Amino acid sequence: MITSKLPNVGITIFTQMSQLAAQTGAINLSQGFPDFDGPQSLRDAVGRHIASGHNQYSPMTGLPALRQQIAAKIARSYGVNVDADHEVTVTPGATQAIFCAIQAVIHSGDEVIVFDPCYDSYAPATELAGGRCVHVHLNPDDFSIDFDQLAAALSPRTKMIVINTPHNPSGALISRDELDQLAALIRDRDIYLISDEVYEHLVFDGVPHVSVLAHEELYQRAFVISSFGKTYHVTGWKTGYVVAPPALTAELRKVHQYVSFCGVTPLQYALADYMAEHPEHVEQLPGFYQAKRDLFCDLLAPSRFSFTRASGTYFQLVDYSQIRPDLNDVDMATWMTREHGVASIPVSVFYQNPPQGQRLIRLCFAKREETLREAAAKLCVI
Ligand SMILES: Cc1ncc(COP(=O)(O)O)c(C=O)c1O
Repeated sequence: MITSKLPNVGITIFTQMSQLAAQTGAINLSQGFPDFDGPQSLRDAVGRHIASGHNQYSPMTGLPALRQQIAAKIARSYGVNVDADHEVTVTPGATQAIFCAIQAVIHSGDEVIVFDPCYDSYAPATELAGGRCVHVHLNPDDFSIDFDQLAAALSPRTKMIVINTPHNPSGALISRDELDQLAALIRDRDIYLISDEVYEHLVFDGVPHVSVLAHEELYQRAFVISSFGKTYHVTGWKTGYVVAPPALTAELRKVHQYVSFCGVTPLQYALADYMAEHPEHVEQLPGFYQAKRDLFCDLLAPSRFSFTRASGTYFQLVDYSQIRPDLNDVDMATWMTREHGVASIPVSVFYQNPPQGQRLIRLCFAKREETLREAAAKLCVI
């Protein structure tokens, strides 16, 4: 009999919905990945580097050329200088980075505050470190931080807070003012921060992304995490990075070197080349995804779903109260996949205790125009 270390974890809804979509032939707007490829020259570069013999372990901290490109991009995007050698670590995916950051600083009995709805890896990573996740709900109307609730959740055991901006699943952005409020709240406490910024370049309507990297005070206690998968349309490459002050980076690397040691070498070479050759890629990304969001939302306007356009990420939340208020969101997502051929993600799975009566599903719009048109046509007749 196995005594599970994660007794409450099963197959995630993301796997379940993608499987159901595949079985039923539904259009898969559930799991967050593009149905188009990353840039041709980026993909070609991987083949080139494999052919030219870049196939052995990279340095544990990440390929120097890639870490330098990351630092250069951070300087261009946020106007801050980070030390590529002592503050940047390349990891096999942002999920691994989150895991390592939590393992690095969370001891048995420590509490980690997460904001529900949240990405599903924070809680298991905390539990595996012997910590306890304390779930605070974001405001249900706009998914902003409820600072009263956050203050009430702080305890002498609080060791870490995890924020995520732009936010999966809602697309909400954290403002500079909110970061200031957070800084003031934890100023005199020994609390670390994970800032999950994997959608940092998917922000719309001309609003700039507010990174913890540019918040001098918060950065001193932060692990700022990003993912090449989101930025370069290559989620399957599972390559990401963590930026943290030198002392935190040193602790993170102690864990990272025993979880994976390093990332995949030819991918790192290819990303370093592409970033050097195409610094404009990240500047064009907001416009690229905003066009998809707007196309999708315009197409959905005549439907019976109600929604506010996402401010960031490649997800659009829609409320189905006017369609099937009798169904909870898991049943709605299943019914929609089976009967109407569009797979989505129910928002309740991002909560420990979902709010009663919420009728929201998440749709991924990182799709080709024809996919979005086909999906919207189906959604408009429900
Ligand atoms: C909020 C958030 N953090 C982290 C990740 C993981 O990124 P990666 O695929 O690089 O592990 C995702 C992916 O869906 C995400 O939505």
